[in-house]
Amino acid sequence: MAASLLASVSQKLRLPRLVGHRGEAARAPENTLAAIRMAAASGLRWVEFDAKLSGDGVPILFHDDTLDRTTNGEGPVAATPFAAIRTLDAGAWFSAAFAGEPVPTLAEALDLLVALDIGANVEIKPCPGRDMETAQAVCATIGTHWPRDRGGLLISSFSRSALDRAREVALDLPRGLLVWDRVGTMIEDAAALDCVSIHCAHQHLTARMARAVKQAGYILVVYTVNEPALARQLIEWGVDTIITDDSGTLGAAAPENTGRVSDRGEVPAT
Ligand code: G3P
Ligand code: MG
Repeated sequence: MAASLLASVSQKLRLPRLVGHRGEAARAPENTLAAIRMAAASGLRWVEFDAKLSGDGVPILFHDDTLDRTTNGEGPVAATPFAAIRTLDAGAWFSAAFAGEPVPTLAEALDLLVALDIGANVEIKPCPGRDMETAQAVCATIGTHWPRDRGGLLISSFSRSALDRAREVALDLPRGLLVWDRVGTMIEDAAALDCVSIHCAHQHLTARMARAVKQAGYILVVYTVNEPALARQLIEWGVDTIITDDSGTLGAAAPENTGRVSDRGEVPAT
């Protein structure tokens, strides 16, 4: 990406301090419309969620490669057509109060976010071997369900090939590189993929690496943080945005002098 386009995309992208993880996963079943509504009710301005393809290529909100943990179904997502996934209960495993909650399509989730006026970190989470087709389908759905000039949307992925394909098919959608333990090359990797942000696991981030990411000009996002003391430390290190399962725990526990932890509004990214 040309440096000027990268700078302009980065400038327009303003992430809030807190982003709800999989909607707001501590309070509602992850990756459902109920979890997005819960995040909005908590005052969150953005949510992160996982997008992958059903067996027949429909982009859905789902984390695991199999249906077993978060639905009353079983078997690989990649071998199950959307019509069958849609009959499953994705809420009862979490609590009886959410029984009957379906697996949403990405299109439904984006429509809801627009209606609620909330931003989205869409994590492309391909089933094995489906990286490029997942990226392509996710970008196509964003293209038809997210108003073009709205902003407030960031794609991310652990998958380099998914990010590469997203760049090919939707150059103007900002991208973030997700890393777990490959922190040694993350800045070079993000640069090679023209990303605007780097998303680190708090377990593998050090103060020195956080400084290096910020000095290199990237938005620094850290996941998944549910401890107020950890959140405060990360912000002292220069972390811009924290992805959390439970905004209430972080917000309620933040003392006055670190009130920025509980900030749900948008903050300058750099
Ligand atoms: O996007 C941050 C985080 O969601 C990445 O890990 O496994 O929770 O999708 P995971
Ligand atoms: Mg995720």
